[in-house]
Amino acid sequence: QQFFFEQADFSGSRVLITAGPTYEAIDPVRFIGNHSSGKMGIALAEEFAKRGALVELVLGPSAQTVQTANIHVTRVTSAEEMFNACATMFSSCQIAVMSAAVADYTPVVTADEKIKKADGNLHVELKRTKDILASLGALKTKEQLLVGFALETQNEKAYALQKLEAKNADMIVLNSLNDQGAGFGKDTNKITIFDKNKQEYTFPVKSKREVAKDIVDTIKHLIHV
Ligand code: CTP
Ligand code: CA
Repeated sequence: QQFFFEQADFSGSRVLITAGPTYEAIDPVRFIGNHSSGKMGIALAEEFAKRGALVELVLGPSAQTVQTANIHVTRVTSAEEMFNACATMFSSCQIAVMSAAVADYTPVVTADEKIKKADGNLHVELKRTKDILASLGALKTKEQLLVGFALETQNEKAYALQKLEAKNADMIVLNSLNDQGAGFGKDTNKITIFDKNKQEYTFPVKSKREVAKDIVDTIKHLIHV
């Protein structure tokens, strides 16, 4: 009988990961959401767990299920719930990766009853949600490593670098919707990573599982440089 030992290079680390979309309720039956599947964040959680980490996965309303040892899943619906879960868990984690597609706006009021249609247009007033990545960036200690994602359709590099800086992240993973084989719901992704030292890492189109490995390897590299 043969045993194959996995690389346990993250054993003893606690990793906070956000994944999936958020849903912002308009009334009891309707919401504002987005096309995020949660697959990229779940692949990251699985890669970290495989390598010995304890993962706190804060998962929005995704169709995916996760039942992996060493991944503790907190299910949330709205951006506010995701923020609260992260605010509670961040201080006990050494690494945080914000891969969720968090809603930027939420209804000012959620109607108690189903909104009935009427003649003319419906106006739903929206307010800004809290930025989870930026909030953790403001709380971060020297011992913590914070990773963000960026989804852009234009001026990709400039916008990604702006986000890295503005949110006080250590690394940002740029996801390009324009690239073939990348995007929502797909099983493949194409990423470029920028770190706080202005290093740029480019990768070809790969499966989300392989992309997760590239991201975790880059995090490991950044911890050790
Ligand atoms: N993010 C977050 N909380 C929010 C909005 C975004 O934590 N309320 C995080 C995402 O998880 C991602 C990063 O911020 O890691 C960038 O998200 P993105 O939507 O690309 O950028 P925004 O800063 O929201 O700017 P915009 O959507 O206008 O490009
Ligand atoms: Ca956004």
